Amino acid sequence: MTTHELRQAYLRFFEERGHAIVPSASLVPDNDPTTLFTGSGMQPMVPYLLGEPHPLGTRIADSQKCFRSQDIEEVGDNRHTTFFEMLGNWSLGDYFKREQISWMFAFLTERVGLDPARLYVTVFRGSPARGIPRDEESVGYWQAAFATASIDAKAVDFPERDGMGEGRIFYYDERKNWWSRAGVPENMPVGEPGGPDTEMFWDFGPERELHQASVWKDEPCHVNCDCGRFLEIGNNVFMEYVRASDGFAKLPQQNVDFGGGLERLAAALADDPDVFCIDAFDGPRAVVESLSRLKYGKHAEHTRTFRIILDHLRAAVFLIGDGVFPSNKDQGYFVRRLIRRAVRCAAKLGIQEPVGASVGEAVVETYAVAYPSLSEGRARIAAELSQEEEKFRRSLEKGEREFEKMLAVSERVTGEQAFVLYTTYGFPLELTEEMVQEKGYAIDKEAFQAEFRKHQELSRSGSEQKFAGGLADHSAETTRLHTATHLLNQALRAVLGPHVFQRGSNITRERLRFDFSHPEKLTSEQLAAVEDWVNDIIRRDLPVHYEILGLDEAKARGAIGVFDDKYAQLGDKIKVYFVGDVAAGTYASSEVCGGPHVERTGELGGFKIAKEEAVAAGIRRIKAVLVSIA
Ligand code: ALA
Repeated sequence: MTTHELRQAYLRFFEERGHAIVPSASLVPDNDPTTLFTGSGMQPMVPYLLGEPHPLGTRIADSQKCFRSQDIEEVGDNRHTTFFEMLGNWSLGDYFKREQISWMFAFLTERVGLDPARLYVTVFRGSPARGIPRDEESVGYWQAAFATASIDAKAVDFPERDGMGEGRIFYYDERKNWWSRAGVPENMPVGEPGGPDTEMFWDFGPERELHQASVWKDEPCHVNCDCGRFLEIGNNVFMEYVRASDGFAKLPQQNVDFGGGLERLAAALADDPDVFCIDAFDGPRAVVESLSRLKYGKHAEHTRTFRIILDHLRAAVFLIGDGVFPSNKDQGYFVRRLIRRAVRCAAKLGIQEPVGASVGEAVVETYAVAYPSLSEGRARIAAELSQEEEKFRRSLEKGEREFEKMLAVSERVTGEQAFVLYTTYGFPLELTEEMVQEKGYAIDKEAFQAEFRKHQELSRSGSEQKFAGGLADHSAETTRLHTATHLLNQALRAVLGPHVFQRGSNITRERLRFDFSHPEKLTSEQLAAVEDWVNDIIRRDLPVHYEILGLDEAKARGAIGVFDDKYAQLGDKIKVYFVGDVAAGTYASSEVCGGPHVERTGELGGFKIAKEEAVAAGIRRIKAVLVSIA
């Protein structure tokens, strides 16, 4: 089975069990100021896990594109990648542990053909202090599943000392078998959902125990150990809790949130612990091999470098495909870092020719069927990769010479010097940091960071300052601003004309920002008319609700907006929000959107435009706030 076939087999398996298959959301979440990237399959599902009804029902499955910027440093071992696809299935208050566990076992062993004797699982040990029980129920279902393969699955507590013994199922505490976007229970903010989980591991075999001698601490191996023998291939989260101000409460419904790394599952199926050997990397790997005249895996000293190039360029292709271009801030800074680091790695392999566009092309080719938008964006992706590479290559050698000089003089690189390397030679700080470490020197982290903070644009990009897993922001403030954005969109069309189209939108808790097509600066009369239009709708306290419509009907009913909105696209149907009396046909706005929105416009208070400016030729930007009216 190829990786592509594996993805399709998973989706088909869950479709057969009544799941609606939804397309992957973008790698860049909208209207969520708390995170830069989609890092898990459940992120776009949060409102539904918390109880909002999903328009397609209670069983949903997908393969979600994910990017984990916090894993950049981990790339280079056999299993970490920054970009990956997460297979996901969700029960939104429908089935629970029994079905999930028996289906997973059937999928892995019967549908895909993994040997059950080489599967191991972990379960939650319970937390008496938090009133959350030991998950014996899941153990019972796993034992029943293994029994169908004539395997007597013994459950034991995590063996601290004695190795795994006869165990097949291991109880671990909340550091391992609890999942929320914030991690362990104590890190969860109030309102965040989470729950105990049961994880599945593939055993590559005891002979692999010393696979990564450098990280193996000479302790008996266990499923969660880092030696490379075991690989986690999926996580079933029983999301039935929510963090309350005093401990944990039950959510109104019992949810299942399953996530499994597609690439890791493919590696298990190939029985090769190196995820970079799966077929999805064949094309890109062959390009790097031919440019470097080196065979992947033949020269141990180059393996890590190869992996960084393959991972980083694949991630850059998918990010550019979702509209993120190399820049000095926010998401764009990560694309810049990925490409520049890959280019330097290519130089380390002795590659003189440009590498980005040719590897990128092989990535696009690999994913063309599963992600048609990548092949549509092919030319633009290649152009972005080439331009960024070219910019960096021009200064790479000079910068490296400058770096060597700095080290020769003082055996260290100061924060200020790192900044010179960044501003003059385009070396991202993290790249300089890595180069210093390669030379065996430590860097002056504090000076680095002080300098980093001084550089305002860069410091704003630190995803580290944002919540690693991301919290989709459905706070009341952002929901109100979201509805206000719809009204503004409609008001601009009413006041300026039907040439107005949304070109971008961004919402924080404090303000909305809306970019739209219009050739010139708005006059103060026009601005006042737009404000009045919105405030009139607010005063009328109109109802807001959505309907699920076919594309043609949505258009016939005047729906505006971005028709490929990720939450709004539900197979061949879309979700359209209406403001006003739909039955009477007198609605003020209809717009394609995933929500959420307020229930009545009166909740918005008052609308005020704070700023109007140009962003590009033919594109204007409005920033606006909601004010309370006494
Ligand atoms: N949301 C869970 C994870 O990301 C399944 O591991």
